[in-house]
Amino acid sequence: MKDETPRHDDADARLLYNATGINRRDLIKGGISLSALIALSELTLLSDALAAEFSEGVPVSFVINSEAYGLTLDPRTSLLDVLRESLSLTGAKKGCDHGQCGACTVHLDGRRVVSCLTLAVQIDGREVLTIEGLSPADGDLHPMQQAFIDHDALQCGYCTPGQIMAAVACVREGHATSPDQIREYMSGNLCRCGAYVGIVAAIQDAASKMEDL
Ligand code: FES
Ligand code: FES
Repeated sequence: MKDETPRHDDADARLLYNATGINRRDLIKGGISLSALIALSELTLLSDALAAEFSEGVPVSFVINSEAYGLTLDPRTSLLDVLRESLSLTGAKKGCDHGQCGACTVHLDGRRVVSCLTLAVQIDGREVLTIEGLSPADGDLHPMQQAFIDHDALQCGYCTPGQIMAAVACVREGHATSPDQIREYMSGNLCRCGAYVGIVAAIQDAASKMEDL
């Protein structure tokens, strides 16, 4: 029988195999990447260790969409669950809950993160921006939101808040200078409806209008 033990030169795969008995073939069959699974296992280990240490909950203070909050949280709670379940900010969507689809993308201190793989305790003292806080206070849509409408960059809309938050970050990172670059730097955001042509067009359009933002 073929030996499916990972090769010695693949440190991540060996680590995972030793800890879980899962090999690369299992990962491919299950449709999950090695790096995402490792991030998930590290998150699980970290959150379990925190839960044992802080069974009474952990006080966490943070700012979301310019509003200050202070909550006592189970240290295993994800940022996505705090947003959706505790604060009723349901813009960020739970697609896979495994860091694979990008539907839960928000900004943490100005950088995009998948909130399903971000522990809420990690945001203590930090600032989060969600789709609910993206548009300016005067009621206008953000240029990226308007561009998604103008270019029909959505069908069911489930992935759209995550796409838009990732798209804004993509432009600010300077990674929206060509369709190929946009496709590469937006590859973590999946759209089951296949609205990718419109999404790329919307990002190209909005990028020129975001220069002053
Ligand atoms: S729900 Fe977070 S990446 Fe899919
Ligand atoms: S618009 Fe339906 S999943 Fe993207």
